[in-house]
Amino acid sequence: MIAKRIVYRDFRNIEQADISLSPGVNVFLGNNAEGKTNALEGIYLMAAARSFRTPREREMVRFGAPFFEAALTMEDVRREQELTFKVFSADSGHRRICTKNGVAIPRISEMVGVFRAVLFCPEHLAIVKAGPAERRGFLDIAICQLRPLYLQALQRHNKILTQRNALLKQLADGNGEPGLLDIYSEQLSREAALIYVTRREYIRRLDEYVKHFFAELSGETEVPSLLYKNSLKTAESDNLLEMDAASRYMTLLTSNRAREIAAGATLYGSHKDDVEISLNGREARLYASQGQQRSLALAMKLGEGEISMTYTGEYPVFLFDDVLSELDGRRQEFLLSRLGERQVIMTACTPPDTPHLGDAKFITVRGGRYEEAD
Ligand SMILES: Nc1ncnc2c1ncn2[C@@H]1O[C@H](COP(=O)(O)OP(=O)(O)O)[C@@H](O)[C@H]1O
Ligand SMILES: [Mg+2]
Repeated sequence: MIAKRIVYRDFRNIEQADISLSPGVNVFLGNNAEGKTNALEGIYLMAAARSFRTPREREMVRFGAPFFEAALTMEDVRREQELTFKVFSADSGHRRICTKNGVAIPRISEMVGVFRAVLFCPEHLAIVKAGPAERRGFLDIAICQLRPLYLQALQRHNKILTQRNALLKQLADGNGEPGLLDIYSEQLSREAALIYVTRREYIRRLDEYVKHFFAELSGETEVPSLLYKNSLKTAESDNLLEMDAASRYMTLLTSNRAREIAAGATLYGSHKDDVEISLNGREARLYASQGQQRSLALAMKLGEGEISMTYTGEYPVFLFDDVLSELDGRRQEFLLSRLGERQVIMTACTPPDTPHLGDAKFITVRGGRYEEAD
């Protein structure tokens, strides 16, 4: 899969831009605050239908402009497609209009997965040490691009969770409708079960790739493993069916009713899940060296690309924001050498010093303007 062209209007500091991309390596080159990450953010928006920098999409409207527009021309094995996003500023009412090949798409979940990208930024290098929410985010964004049903389940889950938490608070204060709690619990269990099964399968696959890439990269004998930690506390070998997972969640919620009311919050479910990353059985978060943690992060990102490939038959586009400069020479080489035939779009302040860039396309960035360098 390839991003061929991205056109911006009033997006961040970009008044207007029309950028052609090469199917190989593309490097946005420029000083700080010129608009390198902005350009990448817009491309990522097409894949995830959200920014990686803000949950508030209006922030992406250029200061003072009524809306932004971004249009991506992409190509997969079957055909060329066009995706567009138009988002209005707070003052301009109407929220968001998305189109696919000229046709308006009412549900954001239908935009996700058409264009697929793996994002790699400095925060991801710290994924091993980050909090559970960041690791869940990593998983969710990756899975959503492959499974539209998963995204819909997540959306429903989060909505029910908010309602259920509000009800638990009311019940704690002696208000609210007690009968409603079972209904919410039932709905939540159903969504949590789908999320559980999907995450479990994803982490099992990712685990295999991480073992493979980590061994290749580090040459070390220590063996990494990724384990899915969840409220059901099932054994790794457990292959609970979705239906059974749902009833296990329901039991958990029913038997902890009093605790949850006292806490005024839902204490069990997908929103508490985590991925435990270890090396030779010891938690990498606590015991691995910084270098090992980075290698693990790299292996996870490469694994994400491989899983996307096996699901869809095509490699996604790799987006690297300021990440090469954070890696030592050996890790840079490894990453780039493993991405040989794929499209990579990266940002950098100075041209990366590596022979693997081949005939990369350099695009210089200055004040929200983009020019192809010779
Ligand atoms: N909504 C916006 N409207 C106009 N400019 C913006 C907006 N959001 C961010 N910027 C500007 O974009 C610049 C940062 O661009 P960015 O792409 O993050 O830089 P870098 O090239 O370092 O990656 C800053 O000057 C910032 O003020
Ligand atoms: Mg930047």
